[in-house]
Amino acid sequence: MIKALTYTWCLLLMLGFCSACTPDSCNLEQHRPAYHVTPPSQWMNDPNGMVYYDGEYHLFYQHYPDSNVWGPMHWGHAVSTDLLHWKHLPIALYPDSLGYIFSGSAVVDSNNTSGFGRDGKVPLVAIFTHHHAGLEKQQAQDFQYQSIAYSLDKGRTWTKYSGNPVIPNERATRDFRDPKVFWHEPTQRWIMVFAAYDHVQLWGSPDLKQWTFLSDFGQAWGAHTGVWECPDLFELPVENSKETRWVMLVSINPGAPNGGSGTQYFVGEFDGSRFTPDTDFVPKISAGKAVWLDYGRDNYAGVTWSDIPATDGRRIMMGWMSNWDYAQLVPTYTWRSAMTLPRALTLHSTPNGYQLFSFPVTETTKLRTGPGKSISGLSINGEKELISNQSLLELQLTIDLKQSTASQFGLEFSNDLGERYRLGFDKRSNNFFSDRTRSGSGTFSEKFADKLHEAPRILRNDTLQWSIFLDYASAESFADQGSVVLTDIFFPSAPFHRVTVFSAGGQLIISSGNIYSLKTICRH
Ligand code: FRU
Repeated sequence: MIKALTYTWCLLLMLGFCSACTPDSCNLEQHRPAYHVTPPSQWMNDPNGMVYYDGEYHLFYQHYPDSNVWGPMHWGHAVSTDLLHWKHLPIALYPDSLGYIFSGSAVVDSNNTSGFGRDGKVPLVAIFTHHHAGLEKQQAQDFQYQSIAYSLDKGRTWTKYSGNPVIPNERATRDFRDPKVFWHEPTQRWIMVFAAYDHVQLWGSPDLKQWTFLSDFGQAWGAHTGVWECPDLFELPVENSKETRWVMLVSINPGAPNGGSGTQYFVGEFDGSRFTPDTDFVPKISAGKAVWLDYGRDNYAGVTWSDIPATDGRRIMMGWMSNWDYAQLVPTYTWRSAMTLPRALTLHSTPNGYQLFSFPVTETTKLRTGPGKSISGLSINGEKELISNQSLLELQLTIDLKQSTASQFGLEFSNDLGERYRLGFDKRSNNFFSDRTRSGSGTFSEKFADKLHEAPRILRNDTLQWSIFLDYASAESFADQGSVVLTDIFFPSAPFHRVTVFSAGGQLIISSGNIYSLKTICRH
């Protein structure tokens, strides 16, 4: 009886009859993550307008509320006070006569430079791309331009600026989008970075309305097998030093190391007008090299939160946990796509030069339901089951590489249907790998389950610290404090509920380890 009711529920959900699910009803939706942000219904892509203001983290996102595939873009909206529990709010920005609302950012205009503030109310200003689909159809080249909107009520309602666009597309560049803005204290002005086909443009403004072109970056740098999108530019301290460097994130599609959409980054200097990458950081384009934020297939268009208070000081990023190769085909129906866990970015000096590490924010530990199960002091040769009946997990492992003789080892997450997902490390090639080739439904796209996803290890420590977060339809792997990240989604026919550790060609020594079971926050 219960099964029949559940089935009917799921069917109704799949057919789209339920637009306002309660958390309980959402639990019946197959593959809906338990602790990652998903849209309440229909399509979602890039995170947008991430800004912290008055105790709230805002997350806007590319959203098409009328279908589960991409369409006329709106900005969906969610807020959180802890980066874990998200409350969905009404759509913030709707398409208008200037076009769809593409990706962009938001800032707190504390000094009211824009003049949008009234009665002492501080304006939140959103900076986004208008995309004119009509002009695009007519083969025009200037159908994308940058516009702004403001809110005086903590992001609940927005007014678009009557002088939009603030940066028209005068040189008719087809791809001219995704503005990210920050206040630059030394030059006392706003800086905007956005993607212009194969490079990033930098512009400056005193008031968010009048913009002046400053410089270009990137034609000769990094990967260029696809269009550049969603840049971000920020300063970070180099850990364990007094130095700071500037980091430029640039998403590219296609061209990621394991296929499709991915995010590369550059480390260098910003003088208030121009970004200059460190020459020893990454070879120029002729060498065809890039440095990647995440080697999994499912972390795209990630940018960082604006206006995190200095007392906190973190640089927090979130990405879209999908890939344009198959995002519109994945087997979810009433909703599509999730975001990654929020991750703190830190800059480290390593044997490979400066490297950006990313690691889930400490708030994530509040997802743990208890002290966890210790697996310290384990020695494995072959296979050993660690957990048999849990699907929402965090694993924290320290592996003694010196004592371990295994040539390959890792973790397998599986169900009783023979479906499994594997994360591992191969000592000989020095590569981590993520294997979703037998993880369940994968026939919706040839590009989904076609190969192992590999990532080179960067650090050379004798111990390997490894953190893994498993949700119903994703795994996020952070090796060596987040210096090597693999984020991948999957769609098993039934949740993975078993964890097995495997070791081939010798012993694997887990010197310390803990497995935590995680809470369901809400399925959306
Ligand atoms: C990246 C992107 C952006 C664009 C948005 C449109 O995924 O293509 O460049 O603004 O998605 O939805």
